[in-house]
This record gives sequence, C-alpha cells and structure tokens, in this order.
Amino acid sequence: MSRIRKGSRVWSGAERLAAASRVLVAQDGDYFTVAPRELFARPAPVEVELGAGRGDFIIARAAAVPERNFLAVELAGTIAQLMAIRAGRAGLDNLRVVRMDARPLVNLMLPEASVAAYHIYFPDPWPKERHFKHRLFTPAFAIGLSRTLAPGAPLFVATDVAAYAAAIFATLGAAGFVRAASAAPGAALTGFAMKFRAQGRAVHAGTFHAAGAAR
Ligand SMILES: C[S@@+](CC[C@H](N)C(=O)[O-])C[C@H]1O[C@@H](n2cnc3c(N)ncnc32)[C@H](O)[C@@H]1O
Repeated sequence: MSRIRKGSRVWSGAERLAAASRVLVAQDGDYFTVAPRELFARPAPVEVELGAGRGDFIIARAAAVPERNFLAVELAGTIAQLMAIRAGRAGLDNLRVVRMDARPLVNLMLPEASVAAYHIYFPDPWPKERHFKHRLFTPAFAIGLSRTLAPGAPLFVATDVAAYAAAIFATLGAAGFVRAASAAPGAALTGFAMKFRAQGRAVHAGTFHAAGAAR
C-alpha cells in the first residue's frame, strides 16, 4: 500500500509529467517489435541500458555522448517514472525511457544488429537457488544479446555478487561472447555502483563482444 502511495506521489504535478512525457515511450499501442532507431528524431547508433534504475548512469552518458542515441529500459513502474522525470528535466533529445521487461525486448522484440552497446549494471542477483529462474542472464537471454548487438558492438556488465559474476561470464562465454580488456564505463557510475563503492564492496565488471566480431 505504501509503495502505491509513493508511486502516486512520484507520478503527479504538471512539471514532472511534462518532463517525463518528453522522453517516455508511449505504451498505448500493441508492441510486438521495438525499432530503436524509430524512437528518435535523428538517426544515430543506439546504446541500451537494461535495468537502468533511477537513470544516474544513462542520463550522464547521454549528455556526455550527444552523437549517439540512448534507450533506458526499466521494469519497475515507479522507478521508470522517476527516471523519466529526471531524464526529461535534463532536456536531452537523445535519450528515451521505456518501462518494460528487458527479457522479451532482447529475446523477441529488438531487430537483429540494432544495438550499438548494451549496459547492464547490477542486475538483481536473486541469491537463493530456487529463485535463479528470475535472473536476467540465462542462455536464451545471452543469445538474444548476441543477436541484437551490431557487429563489433560491446556488452558492458557489472555486479557486486562474485558468484553471479562467474555465472554471467560463463553464460556469455557459452553464447560465444569473448571478454575484452576495456573497462565497463558504468561500473563505477550507476546509483548502485556509487552506493557499493561508498561501502567498500568489490565490483565485478566486464566488457564482452560477440565472438568473431571486429573489435
Ligand atoms: C539492483 S538495481 C540496479 C539499477 C541500476 N542499474 C544501478 O546500477 O543503479 C536492478 C534494476 O533492474 C530492474 N530490473 C529487474 N529486472 C528487470 C527486467 N527483467 N527488465 C528490466 N529491468 C529490470 C529493477 O527494477 C532495478 O531497478
């Protein structure tokens, strides 16, 4: 009940709703496909953050890299609304926010080779073994990531949970991804990253490319 009250507090006020409407992808149609390039007025390579939370990283990156477009994906309704308000206030034409589950988006809805980079930072670890089925990273999801990345495009991932990092890296390896030496740009910059760094927690991050792709 208190979550519902908090949600209705977030999603109110003319300025907040106007800010969010500048970036929020309308969901009144029947979406079976999402063509990232069609979401933006200007064609440019599109980077996608999955589970973007409050948007700390993607808002800063969209401001820092104006020559690219950015799509922020978040499942939780109130968090997506909060991010949309923050992103809309930032006045960025190259950032869009969509509230949806990343799994059908990656597995089914995005076209092949349509994504210039994936950022996946601190995905929920679901630490109990009986809950592993809820994790984002599965063999099917890794194949979906590979299918939708443009040739040579990177996948950036970070988690604070060592065992989940090992599972993610193994799943990506089995799907044909190869780890690169470069750092993941958001591993120290997302809301959770900053919280974990302040707590002195280790972060396990990697950059991956689909095997055979040009680096
Ligand atoms: C631990 S938080 C990390 C948020 C942000 N990436 C950061 O590092 O600050 C995980 C986020 O992923 C979102 N999430 C979980 N499952 C998701 C899914 N299937 N699709 C999209 N977002 C998801 C959660 O709602 C939450 O906001």
